[in-house]
Amino acid sequence: MSTKNFFISRRSFIRRCSLAGAAAGLPAWFMERDLAEAAPTLKLGPNDRPAIALVGCGGQGRSDASNAKRLGDIVAVCDVDAGHAAAAAKQFTNGGKTPAIFDDVRKVMERDDIQVIINATPDHWHTMVNLAAAKAGKDVYSEKPLTLTIDEGHHVISAVRKSNIILQTGTQQRSSSRFRLACELVRNQRLGQLQQITVWLPAGLREGPFSSKPTPAGLNWDFWQGQTHTVDYVPQRCHLTFRYWYDYSGGTMTDWGAHHNDIARWAVGLAGPVTIEGAPSTQPIPGGYTAFSDYEVTFTYANGVRHTAKSTRDESIYGSAVNENGQRNGIKFEGTNGWIWVNREEIEASDPALLSTPLPAGATRLYASNDHMGNFIDCVRSRKPPAADVETGHRSASMCHLGVIALRLGRKLEWDPAREKFTGEGAKESNKMLSREMRKPFDYHFA
Ligand SMILES: NC(=O)c1ccc[n+]([C@@H]2O[C@H](COP(=O)([O-])OP(=O)(O)OC[C@H]3O[C@@H](n4cnc5c(N)ncnc54)[C@H](O)[C@@H]3O)[C@@H](O)[C@H]2O)c1
Repeated sequence: MSTKNFFISRRSFIRRCSLAGAAAGLPAWFMERDLAEAAPTLKLGPNDRPAIALVGCGGQGRSDASNAKRLGDIVAVCDVDAGHAAAAAKQFTNGGKTPAIFDDVRKVMERDDIQVIINATPDHWHTMVNLAAAKAGKDVYSEKPLTLTIDEGHHVISAVRKSNIILQTGTQQRSSSRFRLACELVRNQRLGQLQQITVWLPAGLREGPFSSKPTPAGLNWDFWQGQTHTVDYVPQRCHLTFRYWYDYSGGTMTDWGAHHNDIARWAVGLAGPVTIEGAPSTQPIPGGYTAFSDYEVTFTYANGVRHTAKSTRDESIYGSAVNENGQRNGIKFEGTNGWIWVNREEIEASDPALLSTPLPAGATRLYASNDHMGNFIDCVRSRKPPAADVETGHRSASMCHLGVIALRLGRKLEWDPAREKFTGEGAKESNKMLSREMRKPFDYHFA
């Protein structure tokens, strides 16, 4: 390849970016600004790569680790399912070096050479792994939703602050220029006064009843269940579909909601809502998944903005269209001057000029990152706050937990986002749902 072809000029690069951006609905002014500001500052030498341990070697863990291996070395893998750990060790063998295999995350934390943890365990394990990482002084990329309960968030924030570790929440939409553009425009009143946000989330699974089966060889079912009460092994409770059980997660309200409710809250710029009300539109099948699959919840913020999160059956749980002409997952912002629609594939507005007109100098700017894992590793080196820090992860997970609590209690809730407590009628009962009983030894003292 000639050097002429290899080194493209800045001008032609901007032109190419603009074309790519136009295809994705991104305006040229924003793409050009991004080029200058959102590129990773990371400059790693060949011997300058953090040693990383992957904890939770299922689908997302292996995807995160594949992403991270651009920037660091996967030196250990840990899982309570020996088959998953072995498969990950094979996948991340590099140059003849096979990652060490662990079945107890506490043993990973004893390894002084490991600097970074990728935590891709199921939701009911996130906090215990993050607390263990903080105690050991290791930085952590923790999958979303950051916590299982709002109370867990307080423990994680205090541990992260105390030990000064970097924690990036795995809400990668925070490192997407498309979502950032939408949020910056909304924050700068491009839509006039923001009135309504509608978040569509894929409907969850409504299936059952299920029956118990012998625990598969190699799976430590007791350890997998962790803080939750123990039950006989039911395959649907375990890998992948754990997210449709309230014991381990919160259905698509917390699964997809951790992404899209986070973006809605980013655009609003407030810590949380002051009221929450909603209802499921179907009931779970007895003996089947327990999380509501079809629902609508409305959060109202102190500034009067309404944020409705509702499920759509036109989308699969993976976010792909079941009905091409139906309602896609994504976020619609509506204000007095028009609307903006954004999802992982597109951004559109009621008037194209709402997107194509540059924001003025001095406009409010949001944290610029276009590479979530790259931003994390960058912050591991610089010790600067990452794009989705612990407080952000906690507050956005809290939105989803509040939505779930409103669905489960079936009544309107009043919330004080400063004190992080329910207020008003029935507060005593609802405040009990901020935490859960944790089975020993898998509680806050686990590590
Ligand atoms: N950011 C994203 O877009 C995205 C996408 C998918 C999943 N996720 C999140 O990633 C997490 C994992 O989801 P998944 O789909 O990969 O689930 P999964 O069931 O495929 O994988 C979870 C793995 O963790 C293991 N595990 C359970 N308890 C453990 C423990 N104490 N120590 C070590 N390993 C343990 C399980 O055995 C399993 O291998 C979830 O919190 C989910 O919300 C994020």
